[in-house]
Amino acid sequence: MAEIFVCPSAELSEGARKLVENGADQIGVIRASGALHAFSNICPHQGGPVCEGLLVHKVEEVIRADKTYQGMRFNEDELHIVCPWHGWEFNIETGRCAGDGRQSLRRYKVIERNEGIYVVV
Ligand code: FES
Repeated sequence: MAEIFVCPSAELSEGARKLVENGADQIGVIRASGALHAFSNICPHQGGPVCEGLLVHKVEEVIRADKTYQGMRFNEDELHIVCPWHGWEFNIETGRCAGDGRQSLRRYKVIERNEGIYVVV
């Protein structure tokens, strides 16, 4: 195992991201929901730069107990990253695809120490 230096901690504020080279791949490091997350920048769908996508809360349909449809709402407890090529969404905590639980982003461990951020490869 090796570590790749990402950046000083102060450069990655809430909602910010940084891409680092990892051989032929890139790793996207994102600070979101108060934690650091790191994923391969290759989408499992068709290889799009998933770590460059928007961060949005999960969209849920609201249905009453009587089964009437009430519209949609954002679930503030679940944040997704959206691949910019075709819109596949992935849970930022787990990397799992929201639309197909068999698909996931490749995750990396992130370490923050001595005011620096590192990914373990
Ligand atoms: S390549 Fe990411 S959604 Fe298609």
